[in-house]
Amino acid sequence: MRPKIAAGNWKMNGTAAALCELDALSRALPENPPQVVICPPSPLLFRATDAVHGCPIQIGAQDCHTEEAGAFTGDISATMIADTGATHVILGHSERRDTHCETDADVQAKARTAWTSGLTAIICIGESNAQREAGETLDIIGAQLDGSLPDDVTADNTVIAYEPIWAIGTGKVPSIAQITEVHDFIRSRLTTRFGTEIGNALPLLYGGSVKASNATEIFAVENVDGALVGGASLKADDFAPIVAALA
Ligand code: G3H
Repeated sequence: MRPKIAAGNWKMNGTAAALCELDALSRALPENPPQVVICPPSPLLFRATDAVHGCPIQIGAQDCHTEEAGAFTGDISATMIADTGATHVILGHSERRDTHCETDADVQAKARTAWTSGLTAIICIGESNAQREAGETLDIIGAQLDGSLPDDVTADNTVIAYEPIWAIGTGKVPSIAQITEVHDFIRSRLTTRFGTEIGNALPLLYGGSVKASNATEIFAVENVDGALVGGASLKADDFAPIVAALA
């Protein structure tokens, strides 16, 4: 039985004033909530972990460096993230693959360092609009999975998020048939590479324009174990109904 996970990626949004949303979210959680992970900008990590103390909300970062420490101005390490009390880190988000030229090999190296610090890696994959139009979606997803996941992945140290780039922040959502096709493909690829026990246990999230209005339908897909939510995770009023749809 895989865990249900509602993860929120605040991206580069929010100052300390936004932390009140964590309190509001904790008060709005259903009685038996799914796993909830909020990933604020790194300057807020320490305060965010304090803010959720005693609540069933976990905190994650949005990236980490491949190295534990060193002369890497502006970067943060997995050790530093774990030191804040955070439990997760998003890796290989398409925005970082694009604007920071991160490769599958970078993502794989970051996953290893994240695990060493006891963090769960939320590894993102997804095709561009041009790749989908060219009929390359499954080839791209397969290659990203192969390249980004270390061989010793487990369901305790990794979550996979399928995020079609063309659906991120656009309001365009793939059809249920498209989500089903890609998630089934990922599940099959995982069981082939890692065996049925690990392959069937790895949680698989969908991300891209998830809202309260479409969450229930998306969560009904067999191989969708939750969501990685951007814009609709910023306000508790928007995110709480998505969490509830998963409970
Ligand atoms: O990490 C989250 C995704 O990029 C989805 O963002 O929900 O704003 O489309 P979005």
